[in-house]
Amino acid sequence: MHPLTATQKAWQEKVNAFCREFVKPTVIERDQAQIFDRQLVDKVMALGIPQIAWPKEYGGLGEDYISYMVALKELAKFDDGLAITLSVCMGLCCEPLVRFGTDEQKEKFLKPLVAGKILGSFALTEKEAGTDASGVQTMAVKEGDFYVLNGQKTYITNSGEAGMYIVFAKTDPEAGAKGISAFIVTPDMDGFTVEKRDPMMGLHTSTCSGLNFKDVKVPAANLLGNEGEGYKIAMYALDSSRIGVAAQATGLAEAALAHAIAYTKERVQFGKPLSKFQNTQFQLADMAIKVEAANLMLHNAGRDKAEGRPYTISASMAKKFCSDMAMEVTTKAVQLFGGYGFCEDYPVARLMRNAKVTQIYEGTNEAQQMVVGGSLLR
Ligand code: CAA
Repeated sequence: MHPLTATQKAWQEKVNAFCREFVKPTVIERDQAQIFDRQLVDKVMALGIPQIAWPKEYGGLGEDYISYMVALKELAKFDDGLAITLSVCMGLCCEPLVRFGTDEQKEKFLKPLVAGKILGSFALTEKEAGTDASGVQTMAVKEGDFYVLNGQKTYITNSGEAGMYIVFAKTDPEAGAKGISAFIVTPDMDGFTVEKRDPMMGLHTSTCSGLNFKDVKVPAANLLGNEGEGYKIAMYALDSSRIGVAAQATGLAEAALAHAIAYTKERVQFGKPLSKFQNTQFQLADMAIKVEAANLMLHNAGRDKAEGRPYTISASMAKKFCSDMAMEVTTKAVQLFGGYGFCEDYPVARLMRNAKVTQIYEGTNEAQQMVVGGSLLR
């Protein structure tokens, strides 16, 4: 396993202790009843994870990015729904605000996000614009000191709970990717509505739904970056959040491995624990080797980011590798649990369902192949 510094280890232990006390006892119930528990989310925020990696001038602790990554992975081991709720705020909202936000935007939106006082949301995806992110159809037309937004977004995490949304809309329909701009929309704006929650296969403890914009007047001061910079801002934010997805996926797999080890030591068949069968040992060994490799990929991307090197490629590589690994390892865990693995009263079914989306969201793994493949052939 990749060695952690004393600070990184302290964060891991802090999140682990919190999760054992407040998250683990209720996660199966909250998952089955599909409860987004805002009080629990606020408690997670109050732990200080949102502050870890941001500069002190924005209310952060100015600690290293890997500590944040480790804390997020630890949270995902217990409840991946909580982890994605937080990861969207940090990777997809704070990250672009720090780089592209004006002083006023940092004061109004970044500081409350870093303080954990509000949640953030990132609205890029539309019904006809998933992997093809430059195909967004939501329109923003400048009228005096405002932009008027019209359109719809789909599958937006933290919808209905967020205090600010970064919304991508076309300002120049003829200019393709260069005609997209990013806007900060707040829930109090007239004409902005949130649809009912989407029924999903997993991540039942988070929230996700569509958004509608009908003549929403967004102050020009809420334009993030310059007009036409929206696509670049989205890709920049996704680079960071893809490391977050890799951390979540690795956390899910580590949890599945730990559950499988504990279960196979207890479960007796044919007169001995499953762990005494060579097949079980080989399965567990394969799972552990893959988890170890994923941790190396995750830390490789995290170190690139923490040490100021370009990380678009290592983030995409880690996102694909760790999420494919998580799908495989959680599926093996379900198999080792046998019939109990298929039952939602045991933890591994949930881990397997949640692993699936890590191969899909924040850019499908095929989009990651486009990023990596494109860089090889440039
Ligand atoms: N950072 C900054 N700029 C970037 C960039 C990056 N990582 N990647 C590309 N760009 C810029 C390029 O420099 C280029 O600009 P120029 O023309 O000025 O050089 C422009 O963007 C276009 O670049 P490419 O042609 O290389 O990129 P592309 O358009 O071919 O990318 C794609 C294709 C990889 C499929 C990309 O569209 C993509 O990643 N799609 C997936 C979208 C996605 O991840 N959606 C997730 C939604 S959010 C979500 O899932 C959240 C949630 O639910 C929790």
